[in-house]
Amino acid sequence: MTASIDWRRNLEGLDATLLRRRSTRSYSGQNLKIEELLALLDFTYQPDHYILQGLDRSPDYFDLSLLETFIAVSGVEGLEEGCYYYAPKAQELRQIRFKNFRRELHFLCLKQDLGRDAAAVLFHTADLKKAVKQYGDRAYRYLHMDAGHLGQRLNLAAFYLRLGVSGIAGFFDDQVNEVLGIPPDEAVIYITTLGRPR
Ligand SMILES: Cc1cc2nc3c(=O)[nH]c(=O)nc-3n(C[C@H](O)[C@H](O)[C@H](O)COP(=O)(O)O)c2cc1C
Repeated sequence: MTASIDWRRNLEGLDATLLRRRSTRSYSGQNLKIEELLALLDFTYQPDHYILQGLDRSPDYFDLSLLETFIAVSGVEGLEEGCYYYAPKAQELRQIRFKNFRRELHFLCLKQDLGRDAAAVLFHTADLKKAVKQYGDRAYRYLHMDAGHLGQRLNLAAFYLRLGVSGIAGFFDDQVNEVLGIPPDEAVIYITTLGRPR
């Protein structure tokens, strides 16, 4: 099982992180360790692991079952390069494509170097048709809020562990699915790049 992040006594570490967090503007291109990636995923998707530290067991979301997580791994020690589906309930990374996508990620992120130099690029996606059918048009708005909430948990955890992190909203929507093997009904909502800061 993954070691959860220790936010220290009275959540001192989280308080300080909330005040000081920044987005990384440039990555060195160096690898992350698999333990680091798993710790970020643990804080983001397993809030029940943090109740003894005083955090909310079930933070408010619209409907997390509508969001899926895919991770393109370019440089994580202990994980083969490729694209993975993350299953939060099983806490499993399931490989769906085997390839180094650095070049493609650079292009998909509108040639932003953050996409190319990141060790891992995480995609939050949703089946918009299904969401709208279930909740009406306003599902579109709420899905983005949920993706933002997950994204910010990644940002906080990464900053605390001295890793690099930046959200990415500039990307070629349609081409992401094709290149990474993400099912066509899943629309990318928000991207978070992760790596070692330069
Ligand atoms: C929704 C969202 C989308 C973003 N998209 C990009 C992006 O495409 N490229 C980029 O370099 N930074 C992007 N960022 C990072 C912002 O540039 C960064 O958050 C902003 O400069 C504020 O800095 P801070 O996060 O350190 O407070 C994004 C941030 C958010 C929240």
